Amino acid sequence: MREISAKAHGKVNLHLGVGDARPDGYHELVTVFQSLSLSDTLTLEVDDEDFVALSEGSIVVGLTVSGLDAASVPRDATNLAWRGVDTLVDYYRRVHGLTHLPRVRIRIHKGIPTAGGMAGGSADAAAALVATHALISETMPALAPEILDDLAAVLGSDVPFSLRGGTMLGTGRGERLTPMLSRGQYHWALVFSKEGLSTPQVFSRLDELRTQGHQLDPSIETADLAHALMTGQAGELAKHLINDLQGPATNLRPDIARTLERGQRAGALAAVVSGSGPTCALLCSSELHARDVLDDLLDEGFFSGTIAHGPAKGAHLINDLNN
Ligand code: C5P
Repeated sequence: MREISAKAHGKVNLHLGVGDARPDGYHELVTVFQSLSLSDTLTLEVDDEDFVALSEGSIVVGLTVSGLDAASVPRDATNLAWRGVDTLVDYYRRVHGLTHLPRVRIRIHKGIPTAGGMAGGSADAAAALVATHALISETMPALAPEILDDLAAVLGSDVPFSLRGGTMLGTGRGERLTPMLSRGQYHWALVFSKEGLSTPQVFSRLDELRTQGHQLDPSIETADLAHALMTGQAGELAKHLINDLQGPATNLRPDIARTLERGQRAGALAAVVSGSGPTCALLCSSELHARDVLDDLLDEGFFSGTIAHGPAKGAHLINDLNN
């Protein structure tokens, strides 16, 4: 038995502008992703003694999860990491005629909250693609990054960004990426929630609120944010954080509004819902400041959280699990 491990990071949307629903049910987005230091690690336990014919279905024989929110992560073939392995194997079977592979077991260690608006599931899918690609390309041609991106987009709108990491403008449903310049590091206090939020439900609530006549126009302009990112100043960035899903998320979960308000009172430079929530991202001026703000909220009984900084890397292989 041998192991192949990959790590992928969570993200925050520094800008999340949401347009109308498209005929396929997705919403047109203009978003700016930045990856953060908190991460999940995925390990493939490869059994080189036990090969499976690819006509017989999945090479995955099981999946275990440890770490943050482990109990709420599916352990069957619906898990996005499992689907990530199957997707890549299927591509090589169809396009390159791959016939046999060793069976694998997936082990995930989570540091990103589940259903928290931080792309935790997408990170696991991206790590699965990277680790599976390493396994298959031992004997088959490596894939061009664009092909991996396309496969990632089939798995989920945020998976291509989880693969790439850094700071990116996302358009389409979030899967079309353009790198952006970002100077320096930004520090965050992240406040988690006991209960996750369903992303489709938050998008639907935005549609409902718009239908009811609430003034929730799509935020499409990112030029000021792009400029702020080039200054490297957290104080500048703080002025331009925007999330169109914040309204519907707080409408569904009023506790989120309290967390944001409390974060600002604790001295955060800005407070914003991360993605579709419920995680709240509090922008701070330094790591120490982030620690102070987080401690303040935890002392007051807020559920849990962590500090993090960005930007971080895309999904990558690791040899040493401390990497
Ligand atoms: O792409 P992904 O499977 O991660 O999306 C989850 C759900 O979030 C979609 O089924 C859809 O309801 C919603 N979504 C959306 N518009 C996007 C991205 C996601 O409506 N651009």
